Amino acid sequence: SDGLSLQYQGLLFPRETHSLESLEFAQEFKFRDDDIMAAVYPKSGTIWMQEILPLLLNGGDLTPIQTIPNWDRVPWLEEKRLAVIADTLTAPRAMVTHFPFRLMPPSFHASKAKVIYVMRNPKDILVSSYYFHQMAEFLDDPGTFDEFIEKFLDGNVMFGKWTDHVKGWRSAELGDRILFITYEEMCQDLPAALRQMSDFLGRNPSEDTIQKIAQHCTFKTMKTNRMSNFSLVTKQYMNLEKSPFLRKGEAVCVHHHNLYFFSVCIELCEVSTWLKFTSAIRKEL
Ligand code: PPS
Repeated sequence: SDGLSLQYQGLLFPRETHSLESLEFAQEFKFRDDDIMAAVYPKSGTIWMQEILPLLLNGGDLTPIQTIPNWDRVPWLEEKRLAVIADTLTAPRAMVTHFPFRLMPPSFHASKAKVIYVMRNPKDILVSSYYFHQMAEFLDDPGTFDEFIEKFLDGNVMFGKWTDHVKGWRSAELGDRILFITYEEMCQDLPAALRQMSDFLGRNPSEDTIQKIAQHCTFKTMKTNRMSNFSLVTKQYMNLEKSPFLRKGEAVCVHHHNLYFFSVCIELCEVSTWLKFTSAIRKEL
């Protein structure tokens, strides 16, 4: 680890938002049966879930998303901020995590807390992450894109290797406590994704409510929500002039949105799959 990152259980975490104490706080965090988690590899739809979950859990009430910043509304399990605001969360509590499955705390396993695992295709994650490392002043400069690809492929990035993350969560054997969904499905048909999530969470919103929630969770609407677009943070923390947090919000391969695509990425020799991606990525940048 260096000045900007710390190492814990073999993984890198940004020091700005994480500390040994916060990671241990997460390990000792007491999960309740009615807690809801979104587990998301970085740049795969985390803040999208921070918008969606409060709306789904409160029948489309806009108050939380319009009055509470995303990091306090649906906090990260592993971040320093959780210890400060944990007591303000009301049931059912919703949280997000970038943790790989192996770092989920004992009380999570002992509980019936539900998890929505959001996956995104790795090519878009890589590009999104590259821009994010340029604008987030608390992250290492990503170097050239070629250098960053190597780091990403080696898993020498925050929260480790994408394939490890996906493989770990996919083999978690949580039965009906886990729902797998993709960023691409959400892009393609958000109301359908919302219906799937609300069924999983045992909610039964009307079609009007689903449509209302979908409207408030589009890329365009979220980009103008001050409580979600990171415009409340200082320039020394995130320089949104370099690249906005809500940058592009698109899926490069919507036609590969199904889980099969992810299995292929994971099962095939990673290198050959990645080589195909990298030539496409070079063209895009
Ligand atoms: S982080 O830093 O790990 O919490 O980032 P995360 O929120 O997981 O991922 C950021 C990317 O998600 C995109 N995003 C959205 N896309 C479509 N629709 C909506 N509503 C939405 N909200 C966030 C965001 O734009 C980042 O992707 P890129 O490709 O960089 O635009």
